[in-house]
Amino acid sequence: MPILEKQAADGRDSQVLPKVPVPPLTQTLDMYLKSVQHLVKEEQFKKTKAIVEKFGAPGGVGEALQRKLLKRREKTTNWVYDYWLEDMYLNNRLPLPVNSSPAMVFPKQPFRDRTDALRFAARLICGVLEYKALIDKRALPVDFARGQLAGTPLCMEQYYRLFTSYRYPGLKTDTLRVNAASKAPEHVIVACKNQFFVLDVVANDKQLSEVEILGQLEKIMKTSENSKDGCPPMGLLTSDGRTEWARAREALTRDQVNRDSLSLIENCLGVLCLDEPCGLQPNDTNRALMMLHGGGAEKNGANRWYDKSMQFIVGMDGICGVVCEHSPFEGIVMVQCSEHLIKYIKKTPPEMVKSSSFRELPPPRRLQWKCDHQTQALIEAAGHRLQRLVDNLDMDVFTFKAYGKEYIKKQKVSPDAFIQVAMQLAFYKCRGRLVSTYESASIRRFQDGRVDNIRSATPEALAFVKSMTDERDTFSDLEKMKRLKESINAQTNYTIAAISGMGIDNHLLGLLRSAKELNMEKPEIFSDETYVTSNHFILSTSQVPTTEEMFCCYGPVVPNGYGACYNPQSDHIIFCVSSFWEDTETSSAVFVSALNEGLLEIRELCNRSSAAVSKPADSSQGASHAPKSGK
Ligand code: COA
Repeated sequence: MPILEKQAADGRDSQVLPKVPVPPLTQTLDMYLKSVQHLVKEEQFKKTKAIVEKFGAPGGVGEALQRKLLKRREKTTNWVYDYWLEDMYLNNRLPLPVNSSPAMVFPKQPFRDRTDALRFAARLICGVLEYKALIDKRALPVDFARGQLAGTPLCMEQYYRLFTSYRYPGLKTDTLRVNAASKAPEHVIVACKNQFFVLDVVANDKQLSEVEILGQLEKIMKTSENSKDGCPPMGLLTSDGRTEWARAREALTRDQVNRDSLSLIENCLGVLCLDEPCGLQPNDTNRALMMLHGGGAEKNGANRWYDKSMQFIVGMDGICGVVCEHSPFEGIVMVQCSEHLIKYIKKTPPEMVKSSSFRELPPPRRLQWKCDHQTQALIEAAGHRLQRLVDNLDMDVFTFKAYGKEYIKKQKVSPDAFIQVAMQLAFYKCRGRLVSTYESASIRRFQDGRVDNIRSATPEALAFVKSMTDERDTFSDLEKMKRLKESINAQTNYTIAAISGMGIDNHLLGLLRSAKELNMEKPEIFSDETYVTSNHFILSTSQVPTTEEMFCCYGPVVPNGYGACYNPQSDHIIFCVSSFWEDTETSSAVFVSALNEGLLEIRELCNRSSAAVSKPADSSQGASHAPKSGK
């Protein structure tokens, strides 16, 4: 059964890029052992080492699987793409909100009234249409890598999926369908008071002007107010577990009316959610929460359709942003699109809107549903489950203001690696140990490249964080500084390996899937406790930088974990930390406080060390040694 129905991939920019490599087997196995040794008990590690050595032995299972992967690489554009997509997204049965879909949070908009909000929404739709036209004309400038290994062109495929994808729920696995551009839809679905409307953006072969869109949105608002009762909040079903939604969808599609409505949603270019005021203080944390889950059925949680890739949220209270179904593209592409929209909204003077053409258009259709008792019960159950998720999410958006990227660059180290090491320090301060950590590393240097993992909990990071905490009195500043540099170097080297296609997570997944395809018994390396633990990412991190005023956020990927998205700016860093209240060991506020403390301590260490270096030689003796407490 094809999981990814790809209908529009040929002849694109990515064809000139190299294919993702398959790393050498022994290299991956060595890196794997190094990445887990300090995270598991000694006895467990001994067992793991023996298992890994057997797997990698000449003539062993590992070599056979490696040969299969190398053949797959020859035959496919990207050998890991489908494996990764299924493993990361499509096989995951958890609800999309919080667990999977990231969001961009815009600054609070100063709407005076609903008309202001609808004007903003109309302009936003025009921005979407402008961006889509650029994509359709293939006129988007090719992205080039910045930072590490800067200058190489990046694969643009993810952009082509922004408005053409839809994730269908399945009983065991979902399907991501990507429409061909020629079949491009010409309507947006507008969600308003939990009802769904079809907003055609083209009438008589001509795209609607901004005033025409505004007129249509006003009609939608009016209709939704008049027909509030008797409309089942169908959107709630899409917030449910994927298997539950698949079952409900199967029941719904028995009726032609529902099939027609679903088809219109599934083939739209995006969803515009006109949200009611949520009644909360519009601070960063609350705005992030509203983007991630809409506040549950009592607020705007049913005013969503989570399967659709792009949902643009315009709250009447000025709380706005974008929430994305993650499987077709990464956060970086979502940022590029969001920034285009914000720039578009800022640049178009309101006078232009008034002077643009206006036609009398038929009012947008409201989607109809045939909803029996069984479906109503399913909607109710989905609403309860969403409420539990809403009540469970512990979010803390924190802006660290003491310094940003520029200070770190002055230390002549990679800002990303520095921040990763600071997050390891924060975790250690909270829990006295390090845990398996995920940092997304883009592999867009390759055809159809998505991401691999940088395992940031390196042994070098452990040595550094110990010298800053448990063993702080036994290490001099000079030694601490040496450990800081070593941990940043280890992190930077891992980053370079991962973005060059030499990460280990994709490779190990490929070997596992190859064994499955050969109908082999699962090799012991993959059933080993260490492998299972090392894939349970208690700390899930990602850098999502922006140039406009906005930030990205997402939820934890495991029940006892943290999601930590960060946005480094010149003189500050925005951290969005999430965890679940139900887990008693995690607390976003505690993590944020440790992060703040750790970042300040690292700066003090760097400053003391550079002051020591610049002091005359005869006074250097005191500076390189940490003052021992009580002396
Ligand atoms: N001295 C001084 N400056 C340095 C430096 C050093 N030793 N090392 C790096 N820098 C500079 C870089 O030149 C760059 O400068 P710029 O801001 O002018 O471009 C800046 O610091 C940032 O570089 P760095 O911090 O090393 O990070 P990066 O930009 O290479 O990013 C990753 C690293 C892993 C985040 C990036 O490769 C990546 O994969 N990003 C995608 C993540 C992703 O997919 N997120 C979304 C998931 S949904």
